[in-house]
Amino acid sequence: MASEIKKIGVFTSGGDSPGMNAAIRSVVRTCAYLKIECVGIYRGYQGMIEGDFKTLDARSVNNIINKGGTILKSARCEEFRTKQGRQKAYDQLIKEGIDAFVVIGGNGSFHGAMLFHEEFNFPVMGIPGTIDNDILGTSYTLGYDTAINTVVEAVDKIRDTASSHNRLFFVEVMGRDVGHIALNAGVGAGAEEILIPEQNLGLERLLESLKRSKASGKSSSIVIVAEGDRTGKNVFELKEYVEQHLPIYDVRVSVLGHMQRGGNPTCYDRVLASRMGVKAVESLLEGKSNYMVGIRDTKLVLTPIADAIKAHTEIDEELLRVSDIMTT
Ligand code: F6P
Repeated sequence: MASEIKKIGVFTSGGDSPGMNAAIRSVVRTCAYLKIECVGIYRGYQGMIEGDFKTLDARSVNNIINKGGTILKSARCEEFRTKQGRQKAYDQLIKEGIDAFVVIGGNGSFHGAMLFHEEFNFPVMGIPGTIDNDILGTSYTLGYDTAINTVVEAVDKIRDTASSHNRLFFVEVMGRDVGHIALNAGVGAGAEEILIPEQNLGLERLLESLKRSKASGKSSSIVIVAEGDRTGKNVFELKEYVEQHLPIYDVRVSVLGHMQRGGNPTCYDRVLASRMGVKAVESLLEGKSNYMVGIRDTKLVLTPIADAIKAHTEIDEELLRVSDIMTT
């Protein structure tokens, strides 16, 4: 039986991440391939409420696979959290003749999509786009691979100056409440210590480790600190704390911030985005709704959105062990 879906909306929502453009391109081109219409919704749920729509064809997404950010812009929308806001958005979609949408975003965006599906029985499909890698049902979110490579590149540069001056650097990285960026980029960049929210070993242990590091002849040290870590001190307070207790150290701080969200996506993110876009559109046409497309063991899988957002992803214990051994 032919699908009743003839027009699909696509939008990006929440914090942007590298690979979102590649996913938009994939959704648009899959629609073109399957001869259904595709409409770009600008500024996420905000643009949906305001009816900020533009029809996209295969040529509208030329030369964006390599670009960071999102051509559709992104926003965090307070109004969509209310029933009235969602009603306005629904009315706009119906007026435009949109039968289903693909949302590319993180936890908050998926929560909105799930409510929308439940309230209006509207077909929705999610593609996980966030650098944090904090969504259940997928081993990788779009932008995570690019972000960890960006962090590694930045830390490599910091290490050059750190070792020239025999300094200790605290480098703060993003990740919201989880430590995936910190742990993976930390191991990849050869950090001496990695502080993540999932494991609070205490400040004493940090001092001990730094003492050992100095005694063993290391000329410089890099400590990666996840923004959500639970030491109770931010990176600037950590600097003061270490300078007070270990005056042998000359300490500097570097907060990498939003540079982690920018830049050209890695090949991994581009390919993943292309695959997820195809799967999202095809799944909607098969009558599936309220799922997120994810990747597990190289295979694409669908997870109910409700399951994808119900808890935090867990940290990789084996990698934690590797990290401990590598700091010897
Ligand atoms: O969720 C992505 C993320 O970059 C987090 O790592 C970070 O905590 C947050 O967004 C920053 O949000 P904003 O861009 O609104 O400051």
